[in-house]
Amino acid sequence: MKKILITGASGQIGTELTTYLQSVYGHDQVVASGRHDDIRHHAIYEKLDVLSAVQLIEVIRKHQIDSVIHLAAILSAQGEKNPEALWQINMNGLYNVLEAAKETSAAVFTPSSIAAFGPETPLDHTPQLTIQRPRTIYGISKVAGELLCDYYHHHFGVDTRGVRFPGLISHEALPGGGTTDYAVHIFYKAIETGQFSCDLGPETFLDMMYMPDALRAVVELMEADPAKLQHRNAYNISAMSFSPSQLAKEIQKHLPEFRMDYDVNPVKQAIADSWPNSLDDSCARAQWGWRPEYDLSAMTSHMLKVLGSRSR
Ligand code: SER
Repeated sequence: MKKILITGASGQIGTELTTYLQSVYGHDQVVASGRHDDIRHHAIYEKLDVLSAVQLIEVIRKHQIDSVIHLAAILSAQGEKNPEALWQINMNGLYNVLEAAKETSAAVFTPSSIAAFGPETPLDHTPQLTIQRPRTIYGISKVAGELLCDYYHHHFGVDTRGVRFPGLISHEALPGGGTTDYAVHIFYKAIETGQFSCDLGPETFLDMMYMPDALRAVVELMEADPAKLQHRNAYNISAMSFSPSQLAKEIQKHLPEFRMDYDVNPVKQAIADSWPNSLDDSCARAQWGWRPEYDLSAMTSHMLKVLGSRSR
């Protein structure tokens, strides 16, 4: 990657990825974009709606972009409230990005998710290639997106790559409307009030990852030798798997007064129950050297340190 366009740059991933890519490739090599006027970035910024392929092509040509990191999307729980909007943004947005990439020879990274799996998928050590019959509109858009990216690679030679992200934990921008959001909000509440009401049940295991690992995964996959990539869209990657009760116990090691109760959201619980407990990421490890650095304990210490220092 040399000159990079990020769509959805104000989201949970985009906010930190913009800064990270600037640090790796240089400040002026990264163009952040989003549907709104910029309020957040210290970056070159374009107001850009992914529902316009024409605008996408204009911006790619204007900045001589060679790689698009396409993040603009609606998350799982939000998508169940408005499936039509999700289909518009997640599917048509991706289609436009791929069309623009075909026209301009840009490479494309777009994330898939643990949501691309469903209740018939093996729950533990979920294989790279397995049954994918998700029940959420978000998950359906992710499976369709994986296949569409493969299609553009095989038929049009577009350099498409992606990973199946687990729930992402971070401290810069909040996630909006996902099923795994509790694992972020819990840290803010632990610091602010010492208590948290969890919307998933205590034994709901899900795959999770700390944002620094996720950012590194994007760069490492995009820089990987294409000859070694057998599963471009999309690689299972994993870092830790835990339940809400385990996360609460880990936080209590630092904040012994912390208390958590449960107010289960049935929609989110049903979604979480249909997703894997933990993914097998051996293909990513073998084909492009994927290795997570943060486990539950290291992530928890770091989150509390960063948010704690901010609250003082
Ligand atoms: N974190 C996402 C969500 O919960 C999963 O990709 O929707």
